[in-house]
Amino acid sequence: MFETKLLGTDEESLGTAAKLLKEGFVVGIPTETVYGLGADALNEDAVRAIFQAKGRPADNPLIVHISRLEQLEGLVREIPAMAVRCAEKFWPGPLTMIMPKADIIPEVTSGGLDTVGIRMPSNETARKVITLTGSPIAAPSANLSGSPSPTTAMHVMKDMNGRIAAVVDGGECAVGVESTVISFQGRDCIRLLRPGFISVEDLREVTENVVIDKGVLEMVGEKVRVSSPGMKYKHYAPKAEVTVIEGSSRDFNRFCRENADKDDVLLTFCEGDSAGLENRCICLGESDEIQAHRLFDALRELDAMGAKRAFSRCPEKTGVGLAVYNRLLRAAAFRVIRA
Ligand code: TXA
Ligand code: MG
Repeated sequence: MFETKLLGTDEESLGTAAKLLKEGFVVGIPTETVYGLGADALNEDAVRAIFQAKGRPADNPLIVHISRLEQLEGLVREIPAMAVRCAEKFWPGPLTMIMPKADIIPEVTSGGLDTVGIRMPSNETARKVITLTGSPIAAPSANLSGSPSPTTAMHVMKDMNGRIAAVVDGGECAVGVESTVISFQGRDCIRLLRPGFISVEDLREVTENVVIDKGVLEMVGEKVRVSSPGMKYKHYAPKAEVTVIEGSSRDFNRFCRENADKDDVLLTFCEGDSAGLENRCICLGESDEIQAHRLFDALRELDAMGAKRAFSRCPEKTGVGLAVYNRLLRAAAFRVIRA
C-alpha cells in the first residue's frame, strides 16, 4: 500500500517524480494521449510493479517511451528505413513503432515478445520526466486493466490511489485516445495495429502501402494469435451495456424513440440527436478530434451516473474517427446496430 503523492509540474515536483522512477517505483505521468503508468523500462522489478498495479496480463507488452531520438538506437536491433521516415514526420508525437528489441529490453517489458514498441511523446512534462530519470520509461495507460484509459490525473487517482508512489498532474490530455501503433512489413509496408491521432490518411503520406490489421475493426478470440496482444483483451468497458447505433442523426433519434427506456443514457454528437427525448445525454461533440478528447471521460461518466444501458452515435471511420470508433466498439463489446 502506498500513500500516493499528487505532484505538480514544477521543477522540484518533476525532480521528485524522476527520483522515484530511478529508485524503481511506479509513477503516473501525463502524455499528450492518455496518462501512463511509468517505470524504468530496463528495471525488471519496477516493470513487474506496473503489471501488478494495473492487474495486467503478463503477455501484454508495454510501450517504451524516450525523450531523444538518440535513445532509440540502443533499444532496438534494427531501425527499418520506414521507421526513420515516420520518426521524422510524427515524433515527438502519438505514434508507437514496433521494432525488433535489443537484449537490453527485459522480457517482462516486452511481454515475452522479440519486439518492442517505442514512442517519443510530444508532451513536455513527459519528456522532462524521461530526461531527468535518465532511462527509457515503460508505460501502459494508467487505468486498471479493463477500465477506460485516464485522461486526467483525477482519473488516475480514482484507479491507482494506494497502488503507486505518485501521480504527476499535468492537466487534461490534449488528444484523449492512446497512440497509433504500427509495425513494418518488408521494406515498404506499414501495418496499423491500433488507430490513434496519427491517422491512416497521415500514414499514407509516408507510404501508400498501409494495411489495417484485422483486429482493429473485428473481434479477435482470446486464444487467437494476434499481432498486438492488447487487441484480444476486453477494453475500456464501462459498467453500462453500450450499443453503437450506425446511421444519421435522424436515424439515431428515431432508433432511441423506439427503443430507449427512460433510464438509458445517450452518447450524442449534437443536439438534434436527442431532440424531443427525455433521456440523460453525454455529448461527445461533432468533430472527430473533440470526440477523441471526450470519449474516455464520457465512459467514466456513464459509471458515475450509474447507467445500466447506453446508446451511442457511431463515429466516422476516417481520420481520428477511426480511433474513436475502435475504442467505442470495445466499450460496446462489439454490439453495433444499423438504424
Ligand atoms: O498513447 C499511448 O500509447 C499510451 C501512453 C501512456 O503512451 N500507452 C498505452 O499503452 O496506450 P497500453 O499498454 O495501454 O497499450 C499498448 C498497446 C497494447 O495494445 C499492446 O498490446 C501493444 O500496444 N503493444 C505494445 N508492444 C507491442 C509489441 N511489441 N508488439 C505488438 N503490440 C504491442
Ligand atoms: Mg491501455
